[in-house]
Amino acid sequence: MRSIMKKVYIETYGCQMNVADTEVVFSILGKAGYGRAEQIADADVIMANTCSIRDNAEQRILGRIEQFNIWRKARPGVVTGILGCMAERLKDELLNTGKVDIVAGPDSYRRLPSMIEEALCGRPQIDVLLSREETYADIDPVRMDKNGVSAFISIMRGCNNVCSYCVVPYTRGAERSRDWKSIVREACDCFSRGYREVTLLGQNVDSYNYEGTDFAALLKTVAEAVPGMRIRFSTSNPQDISDEVLLTMASHPNVCRHIHLPVQSGSDRILEKMRRRYTREWYLSRVDRIRELMPDCAISTDVIAGFCSETEEDHRDTLSLFEKVGFDAAYMFYYSERPGTLAARKYPDDVDIATKTRRLEEIIALQNRLSLESNRRDLGKEFMVLVEGPSKKNPDELCGRNPQNKMCVWADKAHKAGDFVRVKVRDCTQATLLCDLAE
Ligand code: 5AD
Ligand code: SF4
Repeated sequence: MRSIMKKVYIETYGCQMNVADTEVVFSILGKAGYGRAEQIADADVIMANTCSIRDNAEQRILGRIEQFNIWRKARPGVVTGILGCMAERLKDELLNTGKVDIVAGPDSYRRLPSMIEEALCGRPQIDVLLSREETYADIDPVRMDKNGVSAFISIMRGCNNVCSYCVVPYTRGAERSRDWKSIVREACDCFSRGYREVTLLGQNVDSYNYEGTDFAALLKTVAEAVPGMRIRFSTSNPQDISDEVLLTMASHPNVCRHIHLPVQSGSDRILEKMRRRYTREWYLSRVDRIRELMPDCAISTDVIAGFCSETEEDHRDTLSLFEKVGFDAAYMFYYSERPGTLAARKYPDDVDIATKTRRLEEIIALQNRLSLESNRRDLGKEFMVLVEGPSKKNPDELCGRNPQNKMCVWADKAHKAGDFVRVKVRDCTQATLLCDLAE
C-alpha cells in the first residue's frame, strides 16, 4: 500500500552543480509535504535531473526516460519529470514524446510543488523560463551525500562566457551571483551539522560578484568564518583567476591546495575558435604563478580532443601542454557538437570519430603517466587527510582526500568519517596514494 505522503525519486546526472540543485529541489519539495523515495519502486514521482553537455550524456538519459515510462505505464498515478539542462534544451520536445509529465528548467524549481500537483491530476506541465535573479539563496538544501562530511554550496548560477562548443549558457542562462551572506550562513550551518569540507560551486567562480564582493573576498570571508572547515572551489577560468584569489588561498591554510583550471586545448588557433579568451602562453603563465605562490598546489584540467578543424599539429600542442604542465588529474573528452552553439552554427564538425577517439586515447595515456608521476612525487610526504569512511576495497582501511584532492587509503581502526588524520605516503597507484598513519 502506498502512504498518504507522496514520494519523489530523483536521479542526478552531470556536474556537481546538478547535485547541488537536486538538494535544493528536495528542500523545496520537502517544505511542500513531499517525501523522498530512495528507490523508484517507492516513488509517486520519478524524475531525472539531467545534463546536456555531450550527446552521449543525453542519449543515456533518453534511455532512462524510456525505463521511467515503463514504470509510469505499469503503475497508474505515477508521474515522471525531467529537470535541468535537457529540460531547458529540449523543452516541448520532451513533453511531446508523451513519456514525461513534467519538464522543468533549472530556474523553475520553486514551481515544482504546484507542477507536480497538476501533473498528478493528469495535466502535463512545462516551465523552462530562465531567470536573471534566481539563486535559490534562501533555500536550505537537503544534503544527499553519503558520508556527511563534504557538502556542495552553489555560489552562482549560469554562465556569460559563451565558449563556442558549450551548451551551458543556453541551458543555465545568464550569470548571477548569490548573496555572500547566505553563502557564509550555509557554510557555518554545514559545520554545525558535522560537515568538514565545502566546495563552492559556479561555472566560473572567478567572476563571482555580489554587490562589489568578488570571489577573493568571498573565499576569505568563508575561510575565516569557519576555520575548522576545508574549503574547495570549482570551476576557475584561466582568463579570470586572479592573483588576489591565489594570495587568499596561500594565506588561508583551510583553503585546499587544488585548482581545477580547464584548458580545453593547447593550440592557440583552436583556443581562439573555442572563444576561450586566453592563449597557451597565458595559461602556462598562470600555472607558473600558481606554483610560485603555492608550490604544493595541485592543478587539474578539462580537455576536448578533436574540436572543429583540429589538425595533428594542434593535437600535438595539447599533448605538449599536458607534458609541460604535468597535470595532477584531468577530465578528458572528445568534441560533441551541441545544437544551437556558436560552433555548431559556424564550424563543421569535421574531425572524424576515429581520429577523435585516437587523439583522446593518446591524451588519456599521457595523463595516466602524468598522474602516476604526480603521485610518485608524493612518496614519503605527509598530508592531513579528511576521513570520508571505509575504503571501498578493504574494510580495515579508511579513505579520504588530501588537500590536493588525491584519494588516500590507510589501515586505521581508530578514526571515523569527519576526522582529520595525518598520513604518510608509502606507495601509490595512478589513482591512489597508499599511506600509513603518520607517527
Ligand atoms: N563536447 C565535449 N566536451 C565538452 N565540454 C563542454 N562542452 C563540450 C562539448 N560540446 C567539456 C569541457 C568542459 C567540461 C565540463 O565538459 O571540457 O570544461
Ligand atoms: Fe551538464 Fe553543464 Fe548542465 Fe552541468 S551545467 S548538468 S555539466 S550541461
